[in-house]
Amino acid sequence: MNLIQIIFDFFLILSCINLFVICDDFPSPRAAQASSLVNNKLYFFGGVFADNFTNEVWYLDLSNSFNLSVLPWHKDQGLPVAVAFASSCVSPIDNSSVFLIWWKHDTCL
Ligand SMILES: *[C@@H]1O[C@H](CO)[C@@H](O)[C@H](O)[C@H]1NC(C)=O
Ligand SMILES: *[C@@H]1O[C@H](CO)[C@@H](O)[C@H](O)[C@H]1NC(C)=O
Ligand SMILES: *[C@@H]1O[C@H](CO)[C@@H](O)[C@H](O)[C@H]1NC(C)=O
Repeated sequence: MNLIQIIFDFFLILSCINLFVICDDFPSPRAAQASSLVNNKLYFFGGVFADNFTNEVWYLDLSNSFNLSVLPWHKDQGLPVAVAFASSCVSPIDNSSVFLIWWKHDTCL
């Protein structure tokens, strides 16, 4: 393997890593998600993207200011099931448990 090939491979691998990081750091555009403010974190649960329901959970930490052009998304552990069109509310008992209520169905339309 010559030097040019090694450099080419290095940048190819680097661009794949960047792609992975970008995919992991931003939620895909979606609809029908539920959201709740838990302490200083604004959570988004489930929703529909690419015609599928998702179990993804994302949040924005609102305790620090941030640039609105570059939202600091955090991905949390996924829900055990994919949900969309759900309602959510935070329990006043501990201010951190979230109740999600949804109508069970697993495909959109
Ligand atoms: C959506 O679901 C279909 C059927 O299960 C699957 O073939 C497809 O890969 C899924 N799309 C995405 C983006 O996950
Ligand atoms: C916010 O992010 C955008 C895009 O990266 C950048 O152009 C802009 O200068 C940033 N604004 C501030 C106040 O940092
Ligand atoms: C939950 O938050 C409310 C409003 O901030 C507060 O009055 C209440 O004491 C909190 N409850 C607990 C268990 O922390």
